[in-house]
Formats: sequence, C-alpha cells, structure tokens
Amino acid sequence: MDEASYIYNKTIASFNDIFYNGIMKSLAIVGLQFGDEGKGKLTDTFAKEFDVVIRYQGGNNAGHTVYANGKKYVLHLLPSGIIHTHTINVMGNGMVIDLEALEKELEPFDVKQVRISNRAHLITPLHRFLDQQAENQAPQKIGTTLKGIGPAYQLKAIRLGIRMGSLFHLDRFKSELKQLYAHYGFKEDSEAYVNRLTPFIQRILPSIIDVGSFLEEAKEKGQSMLFEGAQGMMLDLDHGTYPFVTSSHPSPTSAAIDLGISQGWISRTLGVVKAYTTRVGEGPFPTEYVDRVSQSIRERAHEYGATTGRPRRIGHLDLVMLKHAVRVAGVTELAVTLFDILSGVEPLKICTHYRLDDKDIVTIPGHAEDLQQVVPVYLSFSSWNQDISMVRTYEALPDAAKAYLGFIESTLKRPIRYISVGPQREQLIEVNHD
Ligand code: IMP
Repeated sequence: MDEASYIYNKTIASFNDIFYNGIMKSLAIVGLQFGDEGKGKLTDTFAKEFDVVIRYQGGNNAGHTVYANGKKYVLHLLPSGIIHTHTINVMGNGMVIDLEALEKELEPFDVKQVRISNRAHLITPLHRFLDQQAENQAPQKIGTTLKGIGPAYQLKAIRLGIRMGSLFHLDRFKSELKQLYAHYGFKEDSEAYVNRLTPFIQRILPSIIDVGSFLEEAKEKGQSMLFEGAQGMMLDLDHGTYPFVTSSHPSPTSAAIDLGISQGWISRTLGVVKAYTTRVGEGPFPTEYVDRVSQSIRERAHEYGATTGRPRRIGHLDLVMLKHAVRVAGVTELAVTLFDILSGVEPLKICTHYRLDDKDIVTIPGHAEDLQQVVPVYLSFSSWNQDISMVRTYEALPDAAKAYLGFIESTLKRPIRYISVGPQREQLIEVNHD
C-alpha cells in the first residue's frame, strides 16, 4: 500500500472509531495558510455536534465570520461554538485576552457558556500602545493588527505579564497594573481603567477557572471537544514566515501546552485550505499576483480583513507551504474553502515547488529574505466557468474542478472531506470516501 492510501485508510478508520465505536470524539480545526481560510464557518458547522469548543491561542487579532440564523457574527475572541447555546466555550491559557474587547463581544451571549483560563494573559491599553510603538519604530514593519497581541506574549515571556487569575483580588490587580504602567512610563490612569471594568470583571469571575482540570472532567464525562485554531500555520511563531508572523502557535500540536492537557487528546485534525492564497499584513508571499484577476477575486470573495478591514493580498495556491503546514499541524484530513470563487478564474495555477539560486526546492527557506526571493514553479490547470455555489455533491462538480482538487489531495496525501462553495452553512459539500 502506498503512503497516500495508508494515511487515507487510517483516517477513515479513526473516523469510524470516533463516531461509531464511542472513543472520545475530538477534532481540531486549523487554517493551513495565512489565516482567513474560512475556518469560522466550518467550526460553526461542526460545533453543533460537540459539547465543548476550545480556543487555545491568539486573541482578538482573529476574526471568524459566521453566518447563522440569518445573521452575520464576527467573533474575535470567543470560540465559534458560542452561537450554539448547548456548547461550553473554553478560552485556554495560551490565549491573550483584552477585557474591553471581551466585554463588547460577550454582550449578545450568555456568560454561563464561557470558561476562561485563570492562566491566560491580559491585554491592556499599555499592550496596545506597545504594539503601535513597535510598528512605528521596528526596523521592519510587520503589519500587526495593533491589538496588543505581540506585547502580551512578549511580557508573558519576560515574566511581566498579568493573568486572568489576578482579577480575583481587585486591589492586587490594581497594584500589578500600576507597577507595570510605571515600568513602561505609560501615563494612562490604570485605576480608572480597572474601576470602569469592575462590573464586567464581577460578571466573568465565576467563569475564570483552571481550564486543564475542567477539560479533564469533561473528558471523564465523555464529552466531545472541538479545538479551534486561530490565524493560520504560516503565521505560526516558529513555523511560519518569521518575523512576519503572529506571536503564538496556531498549530493544534501546541494545544496541550496552551490548555494544560495531555498530548494525544486530539484524534483528528482538519486542515482548512482556501482554494487560493491570501495574506493580510507584510511578509513574503511567493505566489502573490496583482492584476485584474486578483482584483476580481478580492471583490467577489470580499477579501478584506475581518479584524482590520485591510485589503488582503491574493495569490495562487502554494503546495510547498501546504505540505509544510500539513506536517507541522499533524493534519489528518482537509477542507477546501471558497472553492466557488475559482469559477472563471484564468489562468488557474498551483505552485508545486520553488527555484532558489538555480536549485529546485520543496521546503520553506528558514529566512524571510530567501523566501522573498524564491521563484514559484507552477502547474497549470483547466478552468471552469459554471457557478458551483449550488452544487452539493462531489460528483456534480465540473471535471476541471475535480482535477484541481484531486491534485491537492494526491500531493498532500490527505483526503479532502469538505468543500465549501459559499458562506452559508448549507453551501458545503461533504465528500464521501467510503
Ligand atoms: P498580530 O497577530 O496582530 O501581532 O499580527 C501579526 C501578523 O499576523 C500580521 O501580519 C497580521 O495581519 C496577521 N494576523 C494576525 N491575526 C490574523 C488573522 O486572524 N487572520 C489573518 N492574519 C492575521
């Protein structure tokens, strides 16, 4: 049996185990490119089948757009399960949390549905200020979301961070904050900040817990768990296009540390791949192109950042990056999103490898400058013109569309299980591999 068939059969077997043989049902969903792969819709689609939905990293730099019950929800901090009232939504210690952003986002929802790690770090106005300052002064602009994400992880690593657990003793929290502001010469009134937030802090206190123990109990009760990665693998602090990355690890392989659970709890990892590539912010992007076609993709797919509104850069699909991401994230199966957008796109190309210094390379160079210089090598595909947004079965897709998908599947050696052909929940093709 070749490697592709082996992995494929293994995935099917584990799927059957999980759903039919009663092994704890757990699934991680992770974006394999630069974020904005449309994970929100998939997480939302799956969330209704799970008891607990968990975010393990990042903060309100994320933007998950979900269309449900005739409404559009843009979630930044809360796990996407929040829309389903039967779910408990967990925010792990690997997250960085801005109380002001959380207050606003929680407004339409019931706080009883939420659990927040007492070890998650706080983002305050100081962190946002430091983010802006770093962008103004750094030798190279990263194009961050300016939400204070990087400084929150930075202060955590240099052991100056303040954690959610501090909120249990407001006097202590006030003095910690005052000291931190003084340390950075930050002139805002920290006491007034805490006073303004006090009613909200009182509201969320019962939800601030030891998340690892909570999840262990949930596991013992046989509850199912959905792990939701934010951003995307190419923005991973270690495995992305450093330094043009975020400051956490979107990879579900980091969920154990970011939640305080054991490795091995995640039995399936669904890697979400946008049918082409987008990136918001600075940094190398080998397959980027700027012309009428990319412009039309941006407008048709409304490729503007959900958090910052910035226009997203557009590029061809890049299998070098995807192969890297599949390995690092431990992906067992794939979902392809925004596939309807490719109808009529011509030329339609997929990058199979790079050329650097007259050599073919199939891995991502470790230095951003080298990645900036690679020349992508493409394979061309026939395009199709039919609108596929109403298609609900794999069989009904045009042959050219199947060829495009088939190439992704065979190169990445993982089965494509879902194809999203529009923003609505029902615009999803489930591919039957049985
Ligand atoms: P930060 O996470 O705000 O520090 O930004 C670092 C980089 O990650 C910037 O290029 C951001 O545009 C990008 N980024 C952060 N979060 C997201 C996301 O959820 N989707 C897409 N890009 C993101």
